[in-house]
Amino acid sequence: MKREILTLPDAGAMVRELCVLVRDKASSAIEASGQFSMALSGGRTPRALYEALAKYYRDGIDWNKMHLFFGDERFVPKDHEQSNFRMADESLFSIVPVPEKNVYPIPTEEATPKLAADRYETTMRQYFTDVDFPVFDLLLLGLGADGHVASLFPGDAALVEKRRWAVPATAPASYAVRERITLTFPVINGSDTVAMIVAGEEKRGILERLLRGDSGIPADRVEPAGRFLIFTDIV
Ligand code: 6PG
Repeated sequence: MKREILTLPDAGAMVRELCVLVRDKASSAIEASGQFSMALSGGRTPRALYEALAKYYRDGIDWNKMHLFFGDERFVPKDHEQSNFRMADESLFSIVPVPEKNVYPIPTEEATPKLAADRYETTMRQYFTDVDFPVFDLLLLGLGADGHVASLFPGDAALVEKRRWAVPATAPASYAVRERITLTFPVINGSDTVAMIVAGEEKRGILERLLRGDSGIPADRVEPAGRFLIFTDIV
């Protein structure tokens, strides 16, 4: 695993670099296989990236060949203010010409997070066929203040899942939405490229813990077979 830290002078420069990464990865994947798969991250940080992709790359990317999944979701309706799907839909899907059939939301309309996770795994297996684990061309991650990635939180059973592609998870009591669905580490680490986005001074401490190899945080388990790029504006 090759971990590469890309430190940019500010959030705007970081978003511009991330847009170039998405464009270039998409272009090479589409040239090679006719399609591109990306797992989106949620929370606040990636919104600026999705907005920039919508604003500047509406024409520079072949959206018709893009297949957009989610790394995790809060167990809320798709129109809920805490929904990662709603955030990505508002900032990206509703603006670029990506076909609706190429966007794969986590089905939070299911009765339980477990049923949603099971159905999402079935959906992923219809795209990534005949493999033990999927290989996303690009998988985006944020970094939580407690070192979580996706919805893989410290102390949660989801951290040690070795077989399932998607599982239910639980966020700490301090989170507005505790019931979650998350991709698992075998899926994250099977990606061709993982891009982690860490923005804002408030993330300095947790980024330093990650960079010094603190095995006590979930993010330390991110070890993709391919490239692991960490984009940050924390100088
Ligand atoms: C989520 C995200 C989560 C996020 C981190 C960082 O559903 O909340 O997928 O893993 O990336 O919590 O969130 P911020 O970008 O809001 O700091």
